Amino acid sequence: MRHLISLKEQSADDIRDIIALAARIKKKYRAGETTDILHDKTLLMFFQKGSTRTRISFEAGMTELGGHAIYLDAAKTQFALADFRDEIRAAMRFGDILMMRLMRVEDVALAASFDQVPVIDGCSEKYHPCQALGDIFTMAEHSKGLKNVKKVAWLGIENNMSNTLKLACAKLGIEVALVTPEVNAASVDKELNTMANATGKVKKVLDIKEALHGADYVHTDTWMDTEYFKSGKPLPEFAAEFERRMKVFMPYQLNAALIEKYAPKAGIMHCMPMHVGYEITRDAIEHKNSVIFDQAENRKHVQKAILLWLLEKGL
Ligand code: CP
Repeated sequence: MRHLISLKEQSADDIRDIIALAARIKKKYRAGETTDILHDKTLLMFFQKGSTRTRISFEAGMTELGGHAIYLDAAKTQFALADFRDEIRAAMRFGDILMMRLMRVEDVALAASFDQVPVIDGCSEKYHPCQALGDIFTMAEHSKGLKNVKKVAWLGIENNMSNTLKLACAKLGIEVALVTPEVNAASVDKELNTMANATGKVKKVLDIKEALHGADYVHTDTWMDTEYFKSGKPLPEFAAEFERRMKVFMPYQLNAALIEKYAPKAGIMHCMPMHVGYEITRDAIEHKNSVIFDQAENRKHVQKAILLWLLEKGL
């Protein structure tokens, strides 16, 4: 049975197959063609954390595939009362595929270990494979083919997102420059790092000029943990850590001046949600090179491809 947890399990050909499937699905969607291949199938979506894109893209994607998606909020189910392993085994009896956004990937892996239905990590502390595949698809689309994507730069913090993006890129032979003064400790996966580094494609470099030279795309992600913010504003109880991170990461902010100086042809990418004025500026979001909103839309086309690929259905 196929599962999508970290992209460590997927080969370069698997990644290419999912991207090619997403391209066919998007083409059909744009042409107004029906793709109700998952008629009578149910996607279970279990969330311990908030989401805009992951929830909407999976739910809309499942609708467009002719199936149904059920949203399960951890706080409003019986998961809080009972042993996780019992509740999840019972829940999987009601669906054909399970997507989970959990605090700890070990619980995602536990659900997958039962091999009842394919399981997807919808963003854990270590991985975000659906976003990484969406990003690869977006870069391939904008560069008119994966073969034309030669180098990506990642600015800011090394985290769950950079883990999966760097591994996917490295497997595909795309050079990755990590401009990351700090690593999110919870995201570290030594095995993943060893796999990515063994390709010879990943380089850690703090010199922005060197990192951005020849980059086709420049990515960033929030430097701050989500709990530091309420309604987009920093919370006073996290003020000290917030200020510390501002000092560490501000030299690596993705802004229009940086792109125009060091990589004027590079696409600007952010997986969202964005903290404007921190890791990215408004002038970068609205820059002619920005592909951020295509990147967001492509989550849906890629989710559909992931669902079909996991269920071993073609198009
Ligand atoms: N990029 C991403 O996963 O967005 P959400 O947190 O809104 O799902």
